[in-house]
Amino acid sequence: MRVLLGVCGGIAAYKAAAIASTLVQRGVTIDVIMTAAAQRFIAPLTFASLTARPVYTSLWDAPERIPHIRLVREADVALVAPATANLIAKLAAGIADDLLTSALLAARIPRILAPAMNDAMYEDGATQANLRALQARGYEIVDPERGFLAERESGMGRLASPERIVDALDRAFARRRSLQGKRVAITAGPTREPFDPVRFASNASTGATGIALAREAALRGAAVTLLLGPTLLEPPAGVDVVRFSTAQELCAAALQCAVGADLTIATAAVADWRPAHASDSKLKKSGDALTVAFEPNPDVLAALGERKGNTFLVGFAAETEDHERHARAKLRAKHLDAIAVNDVAGERGFGTGENELVLLWGEDGRRELGRADKATLAARLLDAVGELMRCS
Ligand code: CTP
Repeated sequence: MRVLLGVCGGIAAYKAAAIASTLVQRGVTIDVIMTAAAQRFIAPLTFASLTARPVYTSLWDAPERIPHIRLVREADVALVAPATANLIAKLAAGIADDLLTSALLAARIPRILAPAMNDAMYEDGATQANLRALQARGYEIVDPERGFLAERESGMGRLASPERIVDALDRAFARRRSLQGKRVAITAGPTREPFDPVRFASNASTGATGIALAREAALRGAAVTLLLGPTLLEPPAGVDVVRFSTAQELCAAALQCAVGADLTIATAAVADWRPAHASDSKLKKSGDALTVAFEPNPDVLAALGERKGNTFLVGFAAETEDHERHARAKLRAKHLDAIAVNDVAGERGFGTGENELVLLWGEDGRRELGRADKATLAARLLDAVGELMRCS
């Protein structure tokens, strides 16, 4: 395992040396980036000696031109300890004005921050809002502790103990390996069912949940195929993307890509019906009412359920009432291993905002995944599914 350790300018910078030493003794390879302020508290030589590797201090003095990209590509996890209020604010705003902030902005690996600062700085609304914003974007925060501060008084803001920081790294390592070598297929987004060249029946799905799951599964080492419907959201890097528009196209693609996968997760909001007839030319208004007859679409997930083999099959249930009863019926009818239920009344659950999920499996298996942003829910869902896969 390989860690990118960022060290910021705070009195707790010296504690980063102890963390580096612990990790080296456990066989972890560490690349250290120090900010300019960090070097006022502790010398790069300390980390170079502990890690037996060069220490990076600037975007400009490395032998290569873009060290920030290489460093995050080679690492499994990025850890910043201590993370100062200034660094946290810069990350929240997306500022990349030195090597450490540039590397973290470019990172597609798990990012862990261990803040340490004066208690008033930590409790200030700006710092708290920045930490919440970063958490919502998938950063893990190892909260500081109450204790003796550099100001010679007790307060909240002392760097978390090395044990808690190393525990957070261990969890990130375990997650990173959890889908290594697995083939994962994910369906995402709405379908569009046209009734003339410019009009279609669709729904409010954006594909955000499936995109978050694809990103998280790739982070955990899986080879991911994302079957993605019409959306303006960008698919994550590092996954194979197959685009579809109609339910029939999705069905054909899913039977080709998802059969035989180790894990398939169906988040797509598939239209249950399509217009029975689609006009080749744009329908002209005549002042009369328009009647469109609809015919049923294939149930993609049910088709995958019939060809399940060893695939662990997870569905999503979009419900507006009696959620868990309806979802359990779908779990059984479609031969699923688990189903995640969300409430979609009034378009809740659609879009890039927060969602709330409950995972159901077997006769009465049930786990609340809570209310959170979709990146966090994707991680919780894959944690839970990973456990079920290991038990099945
Ligand atoms: N699904 C599918 N193909 C369909 C309809 C749904 O693959 N034609 C999948 C969805 O991707 C989801 C699960 O089935 O994983 C449940 O979808 P949902 O819309 O909640 O339920 P339906 O089966 O369509 O039933 P209903 O609309 O009656 O609630």
